[in-house]
Amino acid sequence: MMNNINNTLPLFILALLILCSTRSYSQTLSVCIIGSGIAGSSVAHFLRHYSDDLHHHSPPRIGPIRIFERHGVVGGRMATVSIAGHTFEAGASILHPKNYHALHYAESLNLTIKKPSSSSSLSLGIWDGHKFVFKTLTTNSTCPFTQKILSLTNSCLMFFRYGLSLFRMNTFVERTVNNFLKYYEVFESRPVFETVDEMLNWAGLHKLTTRTLQEELVDVGLSPLLIQELVTVITRINYGQSVSISGLAGAVSLAGSGGGLWSIVGGNWQMAAGLINSSRVILHLHEEIESISYLGDHYELNSTEGNSYQCDVTVVATPLDELNIRFTPKITIPMRKLQHTHATFVRGFLNSAYFGLNAASEIPTLVGTVESLDLPFSSISVLKQHSEQDMTYKVFSREPMEDELLDRIFSVRRETIRIDWGAYPHYKAPERFAPFVLDGQHLYYVNAFENAASTMETSAVAAENIARLILSRSFGQAAASSSNLKSSAADAYDLHSDL
Ligand SMILES: Cc1cc2nc3c(=O)[nH]c(=O)nc-3n(C[C@H](O)[C@H](O)[C@H](O)COP(=O)(O)OP(=O)(O)OC[C@H]3O[C@@H](n4cnc5c(N)ncnc54)[C@H](O)[C@@H]3O)c2cc1C
Ligand SMILES: *[C@@H]1O[C@H](CO)[C@@H](O)[C@H](O)[C@H]1NC(C)=O
Ligand SMILES: *[C@@H]1O[C@H](CO)[C@@H](O)[C@H](O)[C@H]1NC(C)=O
Ligand SMILES: *[C@@H]1O[C@H](CO)[C@@H](O)[C@H](O)[C@H]1NC(C)=O
Ligand SMILES: *[C@@H]1O[C@H](CO)[C@@H](O)[C@H](O)[C@H]1NC(C)=O
Repeated sequence: MMNNINNTLPLFILALLILCSTRSYSQTLSVCIIGSGIAGSSVAHFLRHYSDDLHHHSPPRIGPIRIFERHGVVGGRMATVSIAGHTFEAGASILHPKNYHALHYAESLNLTIKKPSSSSSLSLGIWDGHKFVFKTLTTNSTCPFTQKILSLTNSCLMFFRYGLSLFRMNTFVERTVNNFLKYYEVFESRPVFETVDEMLNWAGLHKLTTRTLQEELVDVGLSPLLIQELVTVITRINYGQSVSISGLAGAVSLAGSGGGLWSIVGGNWQMAAGLINSSRVILHLHEEIESISYLGDHYELNSTEGNSYQCDVTVVATPLDELNIRFTPKITIPMRKLQHTHATFVRGFLNSAYFGLNAASEIPTLVGTVESLDLPFSSISVLKQHSEQDMTYKVFSREPMEDELLDRIFSVRRETIRIDWGAYPHYKAPERFAPFVLDGQHLYYVNAFENAASTMETSAVAAENIARLILSRSFGQAAASSSNLKSSAADAYDLHSDL
């Protein structure tokens, strides 16, 4: 017995010393998060993870975490539609092989990863409104040799049209991806960032937000043809915008068109659902927050349900651009417009005549487009072939797809589902960023980072920094950079070979 006390006494004193060196240790923080997308669910996850890990021997510092979601489901821009008994991604659909937070979520939540099907059955066509300026070949042969030859032929076709510029484009993308990997470094070498500018500067990514993608690509020596065609096709598919988006959003967009892309079987929204479930979150579905008031030492959040919630820390995990949450005192952030993307799902069959072709089988499985005023859509892709003349397609456009237009593009249309997304920021260069800390107190804004790029992973990376920022601003720097925190991102994901 005596021995035990002797052993624990120094530890106890040490613990006291640590506790006394920081502020408000005796109380736990209540945290309110607005938005149940990947950003909000990630903040909850990292707050629990980091504060639980730190406090094996003392009470956790994070008390109740509430997430408010105005809709009846979690996931936000990760959502699915159901057509002909199949589930398709309606919003965020693909992840990059180096999206390490998402990979870790999938693994730890026991979600199943889906790799895209073999590329020999997929074909790309670049449509200018009148003709296909470029088309890859396709085969329905299952012979590996034929598939190999075909993929080589397609590489040659690409090379003949765009030349060495293709390699320069890859180098540009790889360099940017490598810089981004710094955000997975261990705490010892990775500071907590107070602003988006600081965060981007540290990884060497800031300059890319001050110039357009077009300017960046011309500088690295890309041919005008590649920029006008393939690069434009990709930015139109991923961000519904032209190559005048920022270099960083552009690089992220190009990275999302490479190989090894993946998604979660049954829907990417399950990442948010799993994180919320495993982070002891009090989830308020169908509850929209309409006002946030700072009352001196805490926040009061009022909802459309007539409820009032008191929280020490408030996290806004949704773009504020199209919301009218009333803030007291008022906050000001730089003006930002959201790009609306209309996702139209059609079960039916494309009309080959619309594309000036004789047979529907000649229409590529992915029709991309160049910038042209008279083009009514950005892309059309085959999601699934149900039978000979029964397919499900996804159409992206900047304006709604009216019935009359759809009836010209499709010869058969059995079912149509339209979704109007306030999809992502309308990017420009130079970008101006809203602050992570909106009021200098404890009101945080994850989606300030969306002006850098909008993806599931960038939301998770921004959320991880916000979680550390909350801990360090509430309990002192030590809390967010303690070396006893073994589960830093890099350790958890075993990334050392990549870094
Ligand atoms: C069509 C489309 C395709 C995309 N493709 C990809 C892709 O392939 N890969 C990729 O990585 N990313 C993609 N993205 C981007 C990606 O979806 C987003 O970057 C990411 O999901 C943003 O997550 P978030 O949690 O920050 O915001 P959101 O997912 O928008 O979550 C915000 C949540 O807050 C809720 N909310 C808002 N206001 C209130 C309020 N007052 N009270 C309560 N709740 C509120 C909303 O209902 C919403 O659920 C795509 C986006 C779109 C639209
Ligand atoms: C993960 O899922 C598989 C099947 O989907 C199941 O067999 C396994 O028990 C699950 N593991 C955990 C830890 O839940
Ligand atoms: C694909 O297979 C169908 C029969 O299943 C055949 O009619 C068609 O010609 C084939 N197309 C190609 C490009 O080989
Ligand atoms: C929620 O998490 C618990 C473990 O914490 C797990 O047993 C359960 O299956 C999860 N539920 C869902 C719906 O993911
Ligand atoms: C929020 O609700 C409380 C309680 O009903 C009320 O006293 C307060 O004025 C409301 N705040 C705002 C900003 O509407």
